[in-house]
Amino acid sequence: MLDASQDGYITEDGRRIGGVVMEMKNITLRFGGVVAIKDISFDIREGEIRAIIGPNGAGKSSMLNVISGFYVPQEGEIWFRGERRPPMKPYEVARQGIARTFQNIALFEGMSVLDNVMTGRLTHMKSGLFQQALWKGKAEEEEVANREVVEHIIDFLEIQHIRKTPVARLPYGLKKRVELARALAAEPKLLLLDEPMAGMNVEEKEDMSRFILDVNDEFGTTIALIEHDMGVVMDLSDRVVVMDYGKKIGDGTPDEVRNNQEVIDAYLGVSHD
Ligand SMILES: Nc1ncnc2c1ncn2[C@@H]1O[C@H](COP(=O)(O)OP(=O)(O)OP(=O)(O)O)[C@@H](O)[C@H]1O
Ligand SMILES: [Mg+2]
Repeated sequence: MLDASQDGYITEDGRRIGGVVMEMKNITLRFGGVVAIKDISFDIREGEIRAIIGPNGAGKSSMLNVISGFYVPQEGEIWFRGERRPPMKPYEVARQGIARTFQNIALFEGMSVLDNVMTGRLTHMKSGLFQQALWKGKAEEEEVANREVVEHIIDFLEIQHIRKTPVARLPYGLKKRVELARALAAEPKLLLLDEPMAGMNVEEKEDMSRFILDVNDEFGTTIALIEHDMGVVMDLSDRVVVMDYGKKIGDGTPDEVRNNQEVIDAYLGVSHD
């Protein structure tokens, strides 16, 4: 049973969900006259797979961009791991353990898969160029440790066979997987996925669903994801936030959301891809 007043809950498939890791309180985000997010509150719990759904332009990506520090909301509070977060730059948010993928793939197309995934380690690199010149040993140690993490993720996501391939040569579905690999290379506590399966065929979607579940299961990573495919959302997520025109119109388990009349009228009643 889901009870928000308690510290955690057990999911239908028997996973243990912990306390609140991220809490968005009364968030409002405007772009000039456009109100992308209107007074929205919701939380994300430790170990949870939390979906954000809603029609095009509902404000879903804007919400992920607020969480990842790309946008600073005009109103509201963001609480992460029990502390109120001051306005932060994206790299500062990343250092706190929040990684993301983008709605439109943002990889270095000319670089190999391996090098792209390595860029995910940047937030963990302590020694700068100057230090590297002064103290080569330390930098080398760090490099070895970073490579180990990266190779483990490459194995985990089953992309060993393309590790030397330039990203530009990969089919779309694999590019999405490489982007996931780069985000995981940061060893995030909270992983944000903006439409990880958009544009994929059925088989690619099944693969990506499996990887998302495995990441959650094996690394214990908390995941917030935006997805239009309702079958995927219902299968993967523990709780769902529904947005429409910048407002929250539903929040609950997949079943609760599926039976919410306002959600049916605004979103579920019409077909989506
Ligand atoms: N940088 C920006 N400048 C101005 N308006 C923006 C900006 N980003 C988003 N918006 C506007 O905010 C609203 C919400 O957009 P957002 O991209 O968050 O929606 P979405 O739910 O992710 O939609 P989609 O399903 O199409 O990806 C839209 O009206 C959009 O035009
Ligand atoms: Mg979007």
